[in-house]
Amino acid sequence: MSSLKEKLESALHSGLKEIKAAKDIGLIEEIRIKFLGKKGVVSQHLKKVGQLSPEERPEIGKTANLCKTSIISAIEEKKKILKSTTSDKSIDISLPGRRRGIGSKHPISQVIDDAVGIFRRMGFIVADGPDIEDEFHNFDALNTPPDHPSRDVQDTFYLDDGRLLRTQTSPVQIRVMEERKPPVRIVAPGRCYRRDTPDATHSMNFHQIEGLYVDKHVSLAELKGTLLTFAHEMFGKDVNVRFRPHFFPFTEPSLEYDFSCVNCNGKGCSVCKQSGWLEISGAGMVDPEVFKRVGYDPEEYSGYAFGMGIERLAMIRYKINDIRLLYENDIRFLQQFSHSN
Ligand code: PHE
Repeated sequence: MSSLKEKLESALHSGLKEIKAAKDIGLIEEIRIKFLGKKGVVSQHLKKVGQLSPEERPEIGKTANLCKTSIISAIEEKKKILKSTTSDKSIDISLPGRRRGIGSKHPISQVIDDAVGIFRRMGFIVADGPDIEDEFHNFDALNTPPDHPSRDVQDTFYLDDGRLLRTQTSPVQIRVMEERKPPVRIVAPGRCYRRDTPDATHSMNFHQIEGLYVDKHVSLAELKGTLLTFAHEMFGKDVNVRFRPHFFPFTEPSLEYDFSCVNCNGKGCSVCKQSGWLEISGAGMVDPEVFKRVGYDPEEYSGYAFGMGIERLAMIRYKINDIRLLYENDIRFLQQFSHSN
């Protein structure tokens, strides 16, 4: 009997040893079958129990049970260990990492930032005002008569309390002049709102950048020089600027200005409708009436003001033929303006 007990004990011993040395779960299963399977080592030994006397049997039975339970629990332990470490093993550190898409500035923001950068280098500082304006700042102080068509509810979004969504960035001129004494030299980029029917060149919500320079002896020539410098910085040295007479209630004289077509260098193409020129926006010398409303002496000071349509600049710069593309947030469109591409 002692030899059978010894055999069982040595089976347990070598079983535990093999379990300890095993390096993967497949091997553990093989070890289980080898020792505890129907034809396994322990069963083979137990076949000989019949040869023992009835007194000897309980002792061997106990040893056999101990052998089985010890091997089973050693296997369970080992499985747990292997499972927790094999998950690390499945990480292949030589695989290339998963690249996360890097966001990029919207083309409108890029144009605003670049335009602001250009004007800052010319000595302008950035000012801003609220999107929800009152009639005073958006119209009255800008010398816009009460019956002016731009005040019409068909053109302007009014709130129930009589305020409105600003139709232009020009009210920032007023807010700045109310707060500061000349000289002032500011640019004010921001959103504007008009009740336009959206099409390829119109949006109900668009962006402008306003410019205002007030000092002693400011001239129209300086306005032209500033716009020309801007055009060169934004679109290149070949671009020219031209003025056309126009009317705005808050400037006198008023003008609209064009840049020579950046696509055909002014020769005439489909982008500029064969004219050689691209309309940018309006400008002029600040009307003395506006100075009076903000308490500036028009005898002492003069100034120029200009507006620019940001979308217009973006469409020229990136050759975009429909303004609506700028608002749809289609990732396939926006990705084209990502520098990380
Ligand atoms: N606010 C005018 C517009 O929206 C543009 C402009 C700005 C004109 C400043 C003159 C001076 O059309």
